[in-house]
Amino acid sequence: MGEVFAKKTNSVCPSELNIEEFFLDLKGARTIPPAKIDPDRKPPAWLDFNLARRGQQFARNNLPSISISHMFGLASSPYTDGIDILLLSGNFSTPASATKRYTSTITEIITWYTDPFWESGSDGNITDIYKSLNRVRALHSALACAASKKISRGEILSDANEFFDYIPTAAWAAAKRDLNDSNIPPSQRGIAPSNEKICNAVPFNQQILALIQFAFIGFPILFPERLGISCPNEDDLSAFNHLWAILGYLVGIEDKYNIALRPNLKSAREVYRGIFERYAIPSLFHAEKDAIFVADVTFQGLQGITSISPNILMYWTLKDILQIQATNTYKALTFTEKIISAAKDHVMFDVLKNPISRKLSTFFLLNTLLVVGKENFGPQYAKRFDSIKKSFGFSKGYEYFGRVVFGLVWLYKIILAAFIFVYKAF
Ligand code: HEM
Repeated sequence: MGEVFAKKTNSVCPSELNIEEFFLDLKGARTIPPAKIDPDRKPPAWLDFNLARRGQQFARNNLPSISISHMFGLASSPYTDGIDILLLSGNFSTPASATKRYTSTITEIITWYTDPFWESGSDGNITDIYKSLNRVRALHSALACAASKKISRGEILSDANEFFDYIPTAAWAAAKRDLNDSNIPPSQRGIAPSNEKICNAVPFNQQILALIQFAFIGFPILFPERLGISCPNEDDLSAFNHLWAILGYLVGIEDKYNIALRPNLKSAREVYRGIFERYAIPSLFHAEKDAIFVADVTFQGLQGITSISPNILMYWTLKDILQIQATNTYKALTFTEKIISAAKDHVMFDVLKNPISRKLSTFFLLNTLLVVGKENFGPQYAKRFDSIKKSFGFSKGYEYFGRVVFGLVWLYKIILAAFIFVYKAF
């Protein structure tokens, strides 16, 4: 497959639709396939390169918070058309395969935050972002093809009953009780249009693409402060939003359904709030057994990269993003998980406020990814990191300093584990 760029197949922009018209269209978009490939590979008329670069800079400056927001996004997306495809991909059979898959996904996304758009590299060759987006489109199209074949043979993509006996690692029952006991209004507890049973949904349709786009961009724009992005500048948020309008376009979202393509942040927030309340929250109330399986394996897979346990991730999603009490989920946390959670609430966000400690946290994050990446993909994985590290401005001296601090953090973890062991023993 050649270089693939989504075609602007519809001249109507979401900005031209009022909110109710937009949601009506989105509801019907499960039958609309991904946008076609544009053979000319021309950037869309609305693309603003300066804004895109500023959006990338913002993402790099806030990488730990942005990464957490992407995890929350994944945690709150049990949409039928997404789960079916994730199961079909076969990458979620074990936590180890999920770790591998997400290591790759995170690396691709970091490339999108570092590499120039529609510009060739200094050597005249196409840039990593071109290669990356080609790869993602090719992966998506191969899966869409496999799914269509299955559907045409009259088979169903996923049967929730097959996962009836699966016992999740995370305390899903406690989380469900917390959701039921919460003050979330009845209007947000029904079945979301993404989870209604219909027979003519197409793979990678415009609705699921837009919902996954929301999973990446929604929370930093709606709740930056809940993610440790302190005093966000509205222009930076706008730029980051624009970046995701471009990425959405490049993975095949028509302009009409490109939720990041709004005239201003106020109207983007209106759409994001709508998706949060009409799709994300209701779908959590109705997550079926197969969705719970995928989410549980995803959480375990992410633990292999971030060391954040499935229960903590679930607790934080309920408490910080949905802002509900989550008493039952909290009770399900182990002693260590409670300490980590308290450390996040009382220390981590303060750490992220300071530009130097934020940079150090970014260094840890990239370093951890590099270690996990090498474990999963071999030493050649490190090559991809050369340009990534350069974009983040990590010099050799910084690396040595970072490694010392990295070692100290591990020492601290060992001492903490020993302390907990002694505490529990006596
Ligand atoms: C804005 C929308 C989307 C973005 C930005 C996006 C991003 C990505 C990225 C970066 C990868 C590469 C992962 C890797 O290297 O292993 C990927 C692969 C994949 N995506 Fe998406 N995606 C989007 C929408 C979707 C949707 C809607 C679905 C499901 C219906 C989906 C399912 C998958 C699957 C199953 C793979 C793994 C393919 C494989 O490794 O075999 N994606 N996506």
